[in-house]
Amino acid sequence: MRPTGVAGGERHSYGRGPDRYITSQLYYRKMPAKKRSFPLRNVYGLLEPGPVVLVSTARDGRPNVMAMSWQTMIDFEPPIFGCVISNRNYTFDTLTATGQCGINIPTADMAAKVVACGNCSGRKVDKFAKLGLTPMPASQIEAPLVAECYANLECKVIDTTLADKYCFFILEVLKAWIDPARKRPRTIHHLGKGVFAVDGRTIKLPSKMK
Ligand SMILES: Cc1cc2nc3c(=O)[nH]c(=O)nc-3n(C[C@H](O)[C@H](O)[C@H](O)COP(=O)(O)O)c2cc1C
Repeated sequence: MRPTGVAGGERHSYGRGPDRYITSQLYYRKMPAKKRSFPLRNVYGLLEPGPVVLVSTARDGRPNVMAMSWQTMIDFEPPIFGCVISNRNYTFDTLTATGQCGINIPTADMAAKVVACGNCSGRKVDKFAKLGLTPMPASQIEAPLVAECYANLECKVIDTTLADKYCFFILEVLKAWIDPARKRPRTIHHLGKGVFAVDGRTIKLPSKMK
C-alpha cells in the first residue's frame, strides 16, 4: 500500500501500519521557495565549532603559534577534544614531533593578531616576536602558552589514529588556566572567509546537559 502523510492531507502515525514508511519526502514534497542552495565549500561556516584559538607549540627552542577554529570537545573529565591541524602547517610537524601544545583562547580585542597568526607560517616567521605576543611557561608541557589570552590549556596528544587521513588529533587537557578578572570574555568565532562573530549575550535555560 502507498504510504500517506501530512502532505497528503491525512493524520500520520509512527510505527503502526503502512504509515511507518513515512519519510520527510512526504511532508515536504517541494523545497520551500525561500530556501536557496548553499555552496558546500561554505558549510564549515554554518557549523563553526567554537572560538578561534591559538595553538602554541615549540621545537628545538623555537616557539610558534597558529590560529585554529576546527576543534570539538569529546569528553568532560579529563577534558578530551579533537582538532584538525592541516599537514601543510608547520604546527602539524611540531605537534607530531613533540606530542604537546598549548590551546590559548583569545578575546575580540586580539582578533587582528589572531588572524595574523593564521596568515603566516612559523617556518618563516617568529610570530611571537612579530605580533608582540608573550610566550609564558607552562607547568606540565614544554610548549609555551600565550600570556595575552584569557584562558590557556596545556595539552598532550593522546591519539593520532586519524592524523594521516584527516589531520585530526585527539588531545587531553592536562592543566587549565584562566584569568578570573575577565568576567565576560568575548571570544571570536570564524564564520568563514575572514568574517567573525563576537560572542555576546548569554541566556540560561533548564538544560539537562551538564
Ligand atoms: C580564523 C582562522 C582559523 C583557522 N583554523 C584552522 C584550523 O582549524 N586548522 C588548521 O589547520 N588551520 C587553520 N587556520 C590556518 C592556520 O592558522 C594557518 O595555516 C597558519 O599559517 C599555520 O601556521 P604554521 O605554519 O605556523 O603552523 C586558521 C586560520 C584562521 C585565520
